[in-house]
Amino acid sequence: PAPGWSETTDVVVVGSGIAGLTAALHLREAGLHVTVVTKVNIDDGSTRWAQGGIAAVLDPRDTPAAHAADTLVAGVGLCDPAAVRVLVEEGPERVRELMRWGARFDRHPDGSLMLTREGGHHADRIVHAGGDATGAEIQWALHEAVRRDPWIRLVEHALVLDLLRADDGRACGITLHVLGEGTEDGVGAVLARAVVLATGGMGQVFAATTNPTVSTGDGVALALRAGAAVADIEFVQFHPTALAVGRGAGDTGAAPEPGAPAAVVAQQALVSEALRGEGAHLVDGAGRRFMVGQHELAELAPRDVVAKGIHRALLAAGTAHVYLDARHLGGAYLRGRFPTIVASCLAAGVDPAHDLIPVTPAAHYASGGVVTDLTGRTSIAGLYACGEVACTGVHGANRLASNSLLEGLVFARRIAQDIARGLPARAEPVPVPADTPAWAVAAEGRGDLQRAMTRGAGVLRSADTLAATARVLAGLAADTAAPRTATWEMANLVTVASLLVDAAAARQETRGCHWREDFPEADDRWRGHLVADLDGTGTH
Ligand code: SIN
Repeated sequence: PAPGWSETTDVVVVGSGIAGLTAALHLREAGLHVTVVTKVNIDDGSTRWAQGGIAAVLDPRDTPAAHAADTLVAGVGLCDPAAVRVLVEEGPERVRELMRWGARFDRHPDGSLMLTREGGHHADRIVHAGGDATGAEIQWALHEAVRRDPWIRLVEHALVLDLLRADDGRACGITLHVLGEGTEDGVGAVLARAVVLATGGMGQVFAATTNPTVSTGDGVALALRAGAAVADIEFVQFHPTALAVGRGAGDTGAAPEPGAPAAVVAQQALVSEALRGEGAHLVDGAGRRFMVGQHELAELAPRDVVAKGIHRALLAAGTAHVYLDARHLGGAYLRGRFPTIVASCLAAGVDPAHDLIPVTPAAHYASGGVVTDLTGRTSIAGLYACGEVACTGVHGANRLASNSLLEGLVFARRIAQDIARGLPARAEPVPVPADTPAWAVAAEGRGDLQRAMTRGAGVLRSADTLAATARVLAGLAADTAAPRTATWEMANLVTVASLLVDAAAARQETRGCHWREDFPEADDRWRGHLVADLDGTGTH
């Protein structure tokens, strides 16, 4: 494309995971033309890595009220009960719709869906596919459905930069950088009557994360630059059991600093909670089931409880990992039910049928994000947010296992319905900015940022560790060379990391997945949200 190129569509969707593609399919049902813009390939986001499944009430013995109750408990007082109700009540139909679109979930020989359990759930309500390859099946099914529709245009290898606004302030498109198109030449725009952000999470601000390398907080950073409200950013969920890569079962696992990763690993393999749901135990180096006695659900307590239990065990033993013991489940069963996990373990030299699996908490999910209402509207007219980038209020201070794919499905449809109801007659023909955005940061600092965040703003935080992290972030150099994807991404990482550190420092209590060493108890005065926008941070 030539510099300053632009194209026009009805709705531009940024991101191609479950939220983005589901929104695109529903927008097409409403007869709208859609352009989906995605940073690398269509299936490079987090969705395809999801293992455990989707939580939804599909067993006649289960109820939406029970699913809501588990969700509210996990969210520790910060969920929006109205959003949770929408999630659990509309969820089952959205899962059935996903099946109509082609997703094949695991079934018993009699044809009924196989349902499993994960942390924080008091019922078996997790549907899964290919054993532990649920996300891959969903991504495939949605990709196929999108591919069949000629009115969904897909632009891959394109990094979203900024939001375009009409004179009345309404969102009317995005600027983007198409990779491989040089530096400035590749910057252009998609003009649209509405914009849906579905860019996923920000796990890459940490050195240890289950998120793919594309999860750099681009949507939250864009929304902040545009002036949209962003909330609950301090609530980053650490998955209790990521594979502690490169350490075999015979390894003592001694950590240079207890609980800290030795090195930055681009993406850590997940060891699904469903493995614990099917009976695997967490044990320390002495073989002790340390979660027993800490919570009525032991290994299947909500994630923050298990992550904290593991972190304490790591600190007590001075090691970098604990273990999952799945040996009693048997090799044949493990290979059939958990093929993805068995393959990752074997690649790391661990055979789950015979060895303990070394695991450690890793950044997994951003519970907060761009603030939306129940129709996915943000504080900027015409701008919607869906999936992990959004803060709909369903997760509160900690997301319940397998509620994230469900949130993407449920709110994507609500967004499409809202857009279809109230779209302006045509896209505003706003001029595309002639200058390449200058907000780049030197990409060489990425490892320093990730290590500092994991050390000071990770599972366990205090005023001192957060201040030390803030100093590292402030010292990262601006980029002086011509901006490129890596330096824009780095700027997004710095933006969201800084916001996270500020929010984590401000919230002087421990709640959900925000754990302050210096304020170890929940404090009712903090039963509210930290909301940031261009004017700074406030509480509500
Ligand atoms: C898992 O399979 O443990 C992950 C599920 C989730 O993150 O909700």
